[in-house]
Amino acid sequence: MENNTEQIKKVIFSGIQPSGDLTLGNYLGALKNWVKLQDDYDTFYCIVDLHAITVKQEPKNLRRRTLELLAIYIAAGIDPEKNTMFIQSHVPAHSEAAWLLNCNTYVGELSRMTQYKDKSSKYGNSISAGLLNYPVLMVADILLYQADLVPVGKDQKQHLELTRDIADRFNKAYSHTFKIPEPYIPENGTKIMDLQEPNKKMSKSSDNPNSFILMMDPPDIIRKKIARAVTDSIGEVKYSDEQPGVKNLMTILGALTGASMEQLEQKYLGQGYAQFKKDVAEAIVAELEPIQNKVKDLLENKTYLEEIYKKGAEKANYVAIKTLRKMQKKIGLIQK
Ligand code: AMP
Ligand code: TRP
Repeated sequence: MENNTEQIKKVIFSGIQPSGDLTLGNYLGALKNWVKLQDDYDTFYCIVDLHAITVKQEPKNLRRRTLELLAIYIAAGIDPEKNTMFIQSHVPAHSEAAWLLNCNTYVGELSRMTQYKDKSSKYGNSISAGLLNYPVLMVADILLYQADLVPVGKDQKQHLELTRDIADRFNKAYSHTFKIPEPYIPENGTKIMDLQEPNKKMSKSSDNPNSFILMMDPPDIIRKKIARAVTDSIGEVKYSDEQPGVKNLMTILGALTGASMEQLEQKYLGQGYAQFKKDVAEAIVAELEPIQNKVKDLLENKTYLEEIYKKGAEKANYVAIKTLRKMQKKIGLIQK
């Protein structure tokens, strides 16, 4: 019986790069939703270290961030018993499949990707070939697990389209090999905005640290950053495009407490922003502080983390290699 339900569960694959500290945006927009999916889907959550090295990383920081990201996944509620959590470079099939898929991808397709255009204009003359090929590695990540759904933010939708194109092209050229995945954007997909410029997405790459809240920011810093968050002179807690700062804080409070926007409008009617902002800050602290403590504990228990990522890599490898062997065979490579 149990096996039957296992078999019909749809597969979800997603990943985050260990290239910087995670923000409240990453948490509310990605991680918190991943946790909700774990009971209904067969989920693979990857730490995509090979993606992170498409731009220069200090080796020491990359090591630290990779382990910290795993600890954050677990502390946020991703259950190692229910999910496959692993480090991308531990499953060599990702790199191998990426090469095979690179040979079925056009340079034109890759150079048209918005993220590549943005990043390459930023890095000027020293753009690595890895940055151009980066989406193909993402295609490999997804296709190796025959994923049905891929939870991603809007910025990754173009890479998902490419994944579908390449999968379809390969299937047509070599007979059916890959499931064609769908992007998965949760119904109430939360997008958290910059606290200082609320028309921009909250991002760790902002120059002003008051613009973002990091998952690991100490409670007092969180309180200060929310106190400093830009609002307006209207003085009413209202979910309106004319009040982007307030709207964003309401989104955050709603995502954390489950309150609807109407309920929040009612609750703070005629009160200005002081108590509202305090409540936002306390809701964030109440959510993040236990996670931060858990992350700290986990990072002191390297043996436990090692156990999780080794077990994860083993499970992932088992699935990935099956697809890789299929690809190799269809392309005409001799099996060893
Ligand atoms: P990134 O840090 O941009 O690589 O994104 C990792 C994941 O977090 C992706 O699924 C993004 O869509 C999500 N994410 C990043 N920033 C935000 C934000 N400000 N609001 C909501 N989701 C976000
Ligand atoms: N490129 C994604 C990002 O920057 C991370 C990623 C890599 C990913 N491989 C993936 C996301 C596969 C979903 C599925 O956010």
